[in-house]
Amino acid sequence: MSESADRRYGPATLPTARGPLSAAVVQALRHPPHDLPADLGIGLYPSDPITDEDLQLTLFLCYELHYRGWLGVDESWEWQPTLLALRARCERVFETALRRLVGAPSVPAAGVAAGLAELVAADDGPALAATLQRSADLTQFREFVAHRSVYHLREADPHSWALPRLGGPAKAALVEIQTDEYGNGRLDRMHAELFRSTLDRLGLDTGYGAHIDVVPAVTLATNNLMSLFGLHRRLRGALLGHLAAFEMTSSLPNRRYGNGLRRLGFDEVATRFYDEHVEADAVHEQIAAHDMCGGLVRVEPALASDVLFGAAAGLAVDRLFAAHLLDSWAAGRSSLRPPAPPAVPPKVSLVAAPAVASPAPSALV
Ligand SMILES: [Fe+2]
Ligand SMILES: [Fe+2]
Repeated sequence: MSESADRRYGPATLPTARGPLSAAVVQALRHPPHDLPADLGIGLYPSDPITDEDLQLTLFLCYELHYRGWLGVDESWEWQPTLLALRARCERVFETALRRLVGAPSVPAAGVAAGLAELVAADDGPALAATLQRSADLTQFREFVAHRSVYHLREADPHSWALPRLGGPAKAALVEIQTDEYGNGRLDRMHAELFRSTLDRLGLDTGYGAHIDVVPAVTLATNNLMSLFGLHRRLRGALLGHLAAFEMTSSLPNRRYGNGLRRLGFDEVATRFYDEHVEADAVHEQIAAHDMCGGLVRVEPALASDVLFGAAAGLAVDRLFAAHLLDSWAAGRSSLRPPAPPAVPPKVSLVAAPAVASPAPSALV
């Protein structure tokens, strides 16, 4: 297999740090697992955690160990206790910020599916899809695709964390949705693979995680949100609510994205990912709201408000993401970070990697 083929499915290369915390984690991950300084991240509370580059990259670094891992990083880091403790500190900051952002949505008497429909109807986010359909130029469209690649190249994976945590109707509905997302077991129909073709047609790197270094914190936050919900069983209601909101706001924007690419002269290979979602997600939104979230709350009524919290948080962070792109373009700027941000040396003291901690991995970077 060629080097480029190897990179399609991950793991990705460790990204460049964006501040002292992420620098400490990147530096640590280059060595065999060892204890991090006990005070790392204590007292952390950036003014805006959702758009804080250092916090969001630190979370992303930790979460990715549970997906594809990082190239050359010892896989035992996934359950290293002091790294998990640091992740927990970052998660508390992130979750607190999310709850401040959306409050505690109340569940209407008509039920959780009606509550989801209300949230989606009230979603007056910036018109990113309309801009991409009507006026975005090729550079802007490529930026949008690079941002979204962080999720779409592992599409559906974060929500699959819910599968072993559910039984009954919600599980059956989630399986029905995920089966489509994974192409009914056909590689060439997996949504992640359809998106890889879009990247390829637009002349972008198709490797897993290839664009992590250039996407800003708010893009990482849209991903970290799913991982936060997915990796904590207590947040399974929020995870399903997030997926429902995702599906309920997907069909029309995807039609617009496809039309935008056609306007720019791209063929059906480039647009297939978006075209596929127009009809699929019109079906998924019904399954997600009624069968999946409704089914969950019938079995576990106490999770209703969590479902709406997850949906509201997903919509709110996506609004911030859309606003970032549109504001950047309106100001004549790229919405991406510079390609090679300077490395920031850690300001925290690091515990030296032990000389013999565990068997060295075969390919430390
Ligand atoms: Fe999909
Ligand atoms: Fe879907």
